[in-house]
Amino acid sequence: MSNRIQSIRGMHDILPEHTPHWQHLELVIRNLLTAYGYSEIRMPIVEKTELFSRSIGEVTDIVEKEMYTFEDRNGDSLTLRPEGTASCVRAGLEHGLLHNQQQRLWYVGPMFRHERPQKGRYRQFHQVGIETFGFQGPDIDVELIAITARLWKELGLKDVRLEINSLGSLEARQDYRDVLVTYFNDHINDLDEESKRRLETNPLRILDTKNPDMAEVVKWAPSLLDYLDTESRDHFEEKKACLEDLGISFVVNPRLVRGLDYYSRSVFEWITESLGAQGTICAGGRYDGLIEQLGGRPGGAAGFAMGLERLIGLLEEEGNLPEAPPADAYLVAVGEGVARPALVLAERLRDQLPGLRLIMNSGGGGFKAQMKRADRSRAAWALIMGEDELAEGKVTLKPLRGQDVEQLSLDHDELLARLSNWVKA
Ligand code: HAM
Repeated sequence: MSNRIQSIRGMHDILPEHTPHWQHLELVIRNLLTAYGYSEIRMPIVEKTELFSRSIGEVTDIVEKEMYTFEDRNGDSLTLRPEGTASCVRAGLEHGLLHNQQQRLWYVGPMFRHERPQKGRYRQFHQVGIETFGFQGPDIDVELIAITARLWKELGLKDVRLEINSLGSLEARQDYRDVLVTYFNDHINDLDEESKRRLETNPLRILDTKNPDMAEVVKWAPSLLDYLDTESRDHFEEKKACLEDLGISFVVNPRLVRGLDYYSRSVFEWITESLGAQGTICAGGRYDGLIEQLGGRPGGAAGFAMGLERLIGLLEEEGNLPEAPPADAYLVAVGEGVARPALVLAERLRDQLPGLRLIMNSGGGGFKAQMKRADRSRAAWALIMGEDELAEGKVTLKPLRGQDVEQLSLDHDELLARLSNWVKA
């Protein structure tokens, strides 16, 4: 036992009993995004460290303390991606997808952050992310939210709420930052150590504090919404009006600032109370300045990412996940010289009935042992081929799940006819 190697803390195997849940979720998302005209992009899991420090921000939690950064054999500093937006912009610039174009892209895959693991927070976790490029108006922000609202409906999730905010233009945020620093300096004794540090580096993040002792001082802090520039205000008002037109409920949370520096104007989060402290299942917003920051020409950009572990947790909580579909049939082959013709039969059936879920007994075994395996496989029927069946050119069809039918002896065409009904169903 002691010399067995364990997985890394915060990085989990997804076991066969859970993979159908993941497949279901991924399929629903994939179909939905395809229906909205989004195309999938696949980026590498490792990027140059500089990509993340330049985009997410030097003084964010992610860059300061959570990245898996290492030197490769050439001495280059590389990082396991902590998120997908930076990679997507990098890829878009590298392949000329962004200039003078409109793009609706999505990706899925693992992300890595060295956070303190707890329920809903892992060191390897999975995101589906969406990034749009070349759209300036609030209509795309609303589309992003409409997609997620529809997704929750399709998944049967009820207990989720939408919070939105506007961070304004970069200049407006700078003005607000000055006002905020003055306010917090006037209340310096109410700040914890972390916030005092943030006052120097990233004062907006103080608004995001989870420290209940600071609730009061944060509550009375000046609101970002009072410092918005006119364009951002109009953008935000139009976005809110569109959400109302679509009947999508939201709460304006002026304290919503997000933990990554690249955002401007609209930001949003979908939150649930059912998952405890890690209740944000989806988050995003506009990041119009990032393309230029990474060396491209300025252009509209907006997106979001959702945490698949958290969504699965929520679906499991609400009992909304399908089981793996059982096989249609398990082919039992017993007796002298039967195994090979049975294998031929199995492949013939698969040729003739694409979609048939058939498990072929492998590894020999007597009748009883094979029937036990058939039962454990959860297949609906056993197809039994013994020496007698082989001699007569027949197969015995035996119900395994209490179906109200007798066991039947069928020739190949009869068997095919029956199986084709199940495959159609
Ligand atoms: P984020 O807020 O850092 O944004 O992450 C998005 C979502 O990923 C979170 O709301 C949460 O559901 C999930 N998540 C984050 N960290 C963890 C973790 N340690 N364990 C489990 N789930 C986690 C971004 O990553 C941005 N790139 C989103 C975006 C895309 N903005 C614009 N485009």
